[in-house]
Formats: sequence, C-alpha cells, structure tokens
Amino acid sequence: MLLYRRGTEIRGYVNNCPHFGLPLNARANEFLLYGEGLIMCAHHSAVFRLVDGQCVAGLTSGERLEPVPVRLVGTEIFLADA
Ligand code: FES
Repeated sequence: MLLYRRGTEIRGYVNNCPHFGLPLNARANEFLLYGEGLIMCAHHSAVFRLVDGQCVAGLTSGERLEPVPVRLVGTEIFLADA
C-alpha cells in the first residue's frame, strides 16, 4: 500500500501497477514522484495522478490505481470504511 498526503487530504492505494501487476517501486520505500502530485511506475514508466489514481500517461485510458479508503485523524492514519 502507498499513501499520499497533501495538507489534510490523504489518499491510499494498493501498491500494484495495473499494467503487469507489479509494485510501483523497484526499491524498497523508494517511489518516483513525477511533477506535482504524480507518481511514475518504476518498471515501464506509466504515470498516475495521486489525487485519484488515474493513469495520465503510459497505459491505455481508464487504467487507475486501486484505492484504499483511509482517513486522517490528527496525525494518525486509519483504514476507513469503503
Ligand atoms: S508494470 Fe507499471 S508500467 Fe508496466
């Protein structure tokens, strides 16, 4: 799973690229942030928006990261009901 936090907004996603089902990172705990709010898959360079998980480059349209509902309470992060 990966988390993206911007101020009080937080998003969670399964760390699984929809292209080949590989983790987005190639090295433990190292992710390729690409521009503002974008993450690039380390394997074949697909790019996803972190605000909604939508793929914006590198794969066919409609591909997206699988969301994991999370919520921020103070400084703690919890799994939320879907
Ligand atoms: S596995 Fe992520 S772009 Fe291919």
